[in-house]
Amino acid sequence: MKYDNYLWWHKGVVYQIYPRSYKDSDGDGIGDLRGIIEKLDYIKNLGIDAVWISPIYPSPMADFGYDVSDYTGIHPMFGNMDDIDELLNEVHIRGMKLILDLVPNHSSDQHPWFLESRSSKDNPKRDWYIWKDPTPDGGPPNNWLSVFGGPGWEYDEKTGQYYYHAFLKEQPDLNWRNPEVQKAMFDVMRFWLEKGVDGFRVDVMWHMIKDDQFRNDPSNPEYEKGMNSYSRQIPAYSTDQDEVHDIVSKMRNVIDEYDERLLIGEIYLPVDKLVKYYGHENEEAHLPFNFQLLELPWNAAKIRTAISEYEGALPENGWPNWVLGNHDKSRIASRVGKEQAGNAAMLLLTLRGTPTLYYGDELGMEDVEISKDKIQDPQALNEPGVGRSRDPERTPMQWDDSENAGFTSGEPWLPLMVNYKELNVKKQWNKEDSMLQLHRRLLRIRTEEPALHIGDYVPVPSKGDILAYLRKYEQDEFLVVLNLGVSEEVFEPQLEWQGTVKISIQKDLEGQKLKNKITIAQNQGLLIKLDR
Ligand code: NOJ
Ligand code: MG
Repeated sequence: MKYDNYLWWHKGVVYQIYPRSYKDSDGDGIGDLRGIIEKLDYIKNLGIDAVWISPIYPSPMADFGYDVSDYTGIHPMFGNMDDIDELLNEVHIRGMKLILDLVPNHSSDQHPWFLESRSSKDNPKRDWYIWKDPTPDGGPPNNWLSVFGGPGWEYDEKTGQYYYHAFLKEQPDLNWRNPEVQKAMFDVMRFWLEKGVDGFRVDVMWHMIKDDQFRNDPSNPEYEKGMNSYSRQIPAYSTDQDEVHDIVSKMRNVIDEYDERLLIGEIYLPVDKLVKYYGHENEEAHLPFNFQLLELPWNAAKIRTAISEYEGALPENGWPNWVLGNHDKSRIASRVGKEQAGNAAMLLLTLRGTPTLYYGDELGMEDVEISKDKIQDPQALNEPGVGRSRDPERTPMQWDDSENAGFTSGEPWLPLMVNYKELNVKKQWNKEDSMLQLHRRLLRIRTEEPALHIGDYVPVPSKGDILAYLRKYEQDEFLVVLNLGVSEEVFEPQLEWQGTVKISIQKDLEGQKLKNKITIAQNQGLLIKLDR
C-alpha cells in the first residue's frame, strides 16, 4: 500500500479515557466531559492521535455506563449535548479524532425499549429482546451463564417468561436477529457519525448473536474451583456465532457511508477466531481488538511466538493492533511490575499495528487496593471473592500533588493511589527520565518515522529473556531489543548490525553507537536506528 493510502487509524495511537476517572470539572467527585476538554492540550502534547471515551450516555450506572438507557443522549453527570459537541470540536481543532463506545449487545433494563418489551407478550417490542418460556419444571430455558455470575436468564413474573442477559440482569440482551433492532442501532450510529464522531469501539462484539436453537453450552473441562462461575462452561452457543459476521459487516456499511470513520470491535477470542472479525474481504471491523498482551505471561519466547502467530493469521490487508491495558484488566505496571513497565510501553509503541494506551498507564499508575466496603464494581459485588474487581484499574487520574491529585475538588468516587504526590503528570512532565517523558518520546519517534508507524515487522531470533525485532520501511530500519528479565543478557543475533540508540529505557545508552554483540542490563529496552 502506498504511504498516502494509510489512514489516521493505521498510523495513529488511540488513548482510552474512562470518563468517570479522568478529570472532574464540577466537584461531584466524578469525571466529566468538561474535565476531558480541559485536558485536551495535555493529550495532544503527549502525542496522541485519537481519544476513545468509555460510555457517557444516560444510564442507571448498574455497570457504570455499559447499561445504556438512551443511546443518543448524554448522562447529566457527564454533561450535556453541547459539551459533547464542544469536546468533538476541540478534539478536531487539535487534529485528533474522537471515538465513542457503542454498546449494542444489551441496553439497560430501564431503556424505554426494554420497558415496552417487558410490558406484555404482545407488545411490538417484545421481540427486541430475548424472551423464552420456562422449561416444563419452571426453570430457565437453557444453561447459559452470566459473565458476571449466576444464570444468564431472569424470570419475569408479569409475563411468565425469562429474558436473557449475558451480563447483569439490569443489562438485557437485545435480539439482533430482529431487523428492527438492527435498524434502530444503525440509526444510533448515524446520529453520532452525522455529528462528526470518528468511529466506535463496539462493546462485546462477539456476543451479539446467540445460537438460534438455544442449545446448552458445554461444560469447561479446565474449570477449577476458585474461578468465576462463568468459567464453568464454554460459551460455544451463547457467543461467536457465524451470523454475527453479517451484523458486523452491516455495521461496517453504516461506517462506510461516511469518510474515514473507524470500527473497532471488543473481542476476547483466540487469534484464529478473532481475525475472522476483519471479514473475508475486510468488510467487517477495521480493528478487532487484539488483547494478547493483556493475557500472555511476561515471557520473551511466548510473546515472540504470539506476535508471529498473530502476524501470520492476519488476513491480507488486515491491519494489526495491540492493547496493553483497559478498564477491565489489571494495569500493566501491576501485571508486569514497575521495573518492566517501560519495556511494555516500548513494546506497545514499536510493534506493527495501531496501539491503544489506557489513561494513566503513561504515568506508570498501578492497581489501587480498594477496601471491601468501598468496592463499586458489580463484577466483584455479584460474586464476592471470585469475581475480580475492576475498581483498582479505574481510579482517578493523577494530575498533580494537590489534594485528590487535582482530579476533583470533591470526594473522588474511587480512592486515589496513595503515592499520587510522587506519581503525577505535573511532576513527571518536568522529569526527563519519567515514564511520562518516555511515552512522549516514544510517541514522537513513532509519529516521525514511517518505519515505526507503518513499517514491516521482522522478528530477530534471540535467547533468554530478550525479545528483539526490526521495523523496516524503504531505506529505514529500527531494531528493538527488550530485556524482559531480571538479569543481564547478551544479545548476539545472527545478523550483523550497527546503529544509534534513539531511546533507552534506562537513559544511559541514548545517543550511543552500538553494534553486533551487546550486553543488555536487566529491565533495559533499546530502540536503535540502524545505519544504512
Ligand atoms: C465490556 C466492557 O468493557 C465492560 O466494562 C462491561 O462491563 C461489559 N462489556 C458489559 O458491557
Ligand atoms: Mg463531575
